[in-house]
Amino acid sequence: MKGIILAGGKGTRLFPLTKNTNKHLLPVGKEPMIYNPIKQLIASDIRDIMIITSRENMGDVVNVLGSGEEFGCDFTFKVQEKPRGIANALSLAENFAAGHLITVILGDNIVTRSIRPYIDKFKKQKIGAKVLLKEVLNPHHFGIAILDEKKLISIEEKPTLPRSNYAVTGIYMYDNNVFDIIRSIPTSPKGEYEITSANNVYIDKGKLTYDILDGEWTDAGTIESYRIANDMLYKINNQIIDGDYDEYSI
Ligand code: DAU
Repeated sequence: MKGIILAGGKGTRLFPLTKNTNKHLLPVGKEPMIYNPIKQLIASDIRDIMIITSRENMGDVVNVLGSGEEFGCDFTFKVQEKPRGIANALSLAENFAAGHLITVILGDNIVTRSIRPYIDKFKKQKIGAKVLLKEVLNPHHFGIAILDEKKLISIEEKPTLPRSNYAVTGIYMYDNNVFDIIRSIPTSPKGEYEITSANNVYIDKGKLTYDILDGEWTDAGTIESYRIANDMLYKINNQIIDGDYDEYSI
């Protein structure tokens, strides 16, 4: 299994905090934001990690992270020339991922408990994809799962009339078919390659599973969610909580 952290984009919703630096380097608790997804991958025994970020921010990101030696992992860095969407950023990892299952984490997603149990389940699944859902109060801000009983039938990206409160978190697991799928998806009206479009292809093929994420989760991409992320990580001293989790089913 290899890990990929997407840390591109412009971070405009955090302006002016992101005027002169990459969103994922801003402090959350006592560490840069991107440390949380890195620690999640390492806690899941994933030590070969690609970091994808913009040309403007690559220098800063490399300066902060280095080779990976101090984390006990190996970083590979890749430039996304333009913020053309999450699926576009992921497409840049094709050669890196060849022959391996991958776990992809959006660099602004903060999780308190280890995601290892879900990754271990996906390793047994071996093919297809897995997403992690979390119930939220503001569903129009996220990719939202449409569930029929327990079956995930579709994902809607930032719906005006959300059909559930289950957000698709920015933690995705894929086999290598994801790269062919990304080549097949159209751009959204925003002109971006949306990861939700790729996930919907997996759903149509009957190859996408999901779990409900245990513990606290937030993204940190808006001023309000950035504040929540800080509170979450201060409380646990930026240490990921290990151990078993109660498996929810809905
Ligand atoms: O946080 C979970 C949500 O993340 C999901 O529920 C949505 O389905 C998903 O589309 C995404 O929504 P956001 O509006 O939060 O995505 P955003 O454009 O803020 O990008 C999230 C991260 O992805 C960002 O921290 C960096 C990375 N990214 C994004 C873009 C657009 C890139 O690396 N390159 C890009 O071009």
